[in-house]
Amino acid sequence: MNEHSELKTVNMPRIGDKAPEFRAITTQGDIHFPNDYRGRWVILFSHPADFTPVCTSEFMTFAKMENQFNQANCDLVGLSVDGLYSHIAWLRTIKEKIEYKGMKDIEVQFPLIEDIKMEVANKYGMIQPGEDSTKAVRAVFFIDPHGIIRTIIYYPLSLGRNFDEIYRVLVALQTADKFSVATPADWKPGDEVIVPPAGSCGVAKDRMENTEEDLKCYDWFFCTKKLKEEEIWNTILRKEPIAH
Ligand code: BEZ
Repeated sequence: MNEHSELKTVNMPRIGDKAPEFRAITTQGDIHFPNDYRGRWVILFSHPADFTPVCTSEFMTFAKMENQFNQANCDLVGLSVDGLYSHIAWLRTIKEKIEYKGMKDIEVQFPLIEDIKMEVANKYGMIQPGEDSTKAVRAVFFIDPHGIIRTIIYYPLSLGRNFDEIYRVLVALQTADKFSVATPADWKPGDEVIVPPAGSCGVAKDRMENTEEDLKCYDWFFCTKKLKEEEIWNTILRKEPIAH
């Protein structure tokens, strides 16, 4: 505990809560969140500030992967505690000047929220004074098509996010929803998935006696089954082209 964390507690949205509503100005026009994204997944992620190196590397990586997220029915919305003109200048600099790890000419097409007054950042618990009282930490909120927060990940200022992990989380959440399964440690599409636990002594017995076909049981409460990678992509990925 440090001096800031002792001072006060704040309400922060939690997994399972409705995503707090807000209207904001962004680099792609005004948005009404999460209402504008009903029917699609959306990832809302925060950055400490514009024109900073870790943020720049993250923004380029996310922009490069945007189409991949869109194909999985997911939009991206960024937030940085800076003003609109700073955002525009930063995104122009990224496109015109920055070449990083083979990425160049990167055009950020998803909205970047202006949040100079930290109104949205405070609503979402992105300001964590023990880390910094004027900059947002690196938060990632996964919000489902009904506007419910399904996963939250926080990183400190010094640590750039792993975007393959962010994509893995999105696919795992959608897989759990569509196939009524859970996903084990380090799961990736093609790996076995976990079936719901036995709900009665009879089912527990059947599982231990291996009478349920297709299941592999490590014990009565821990059974997996195969789920083909192709089946997951066929369910998750959009069939129709994305209109931008
Ligand atoms: C960065 O994005 O590089 C950064 C931002 C705030 C504090 C430290 C690093």
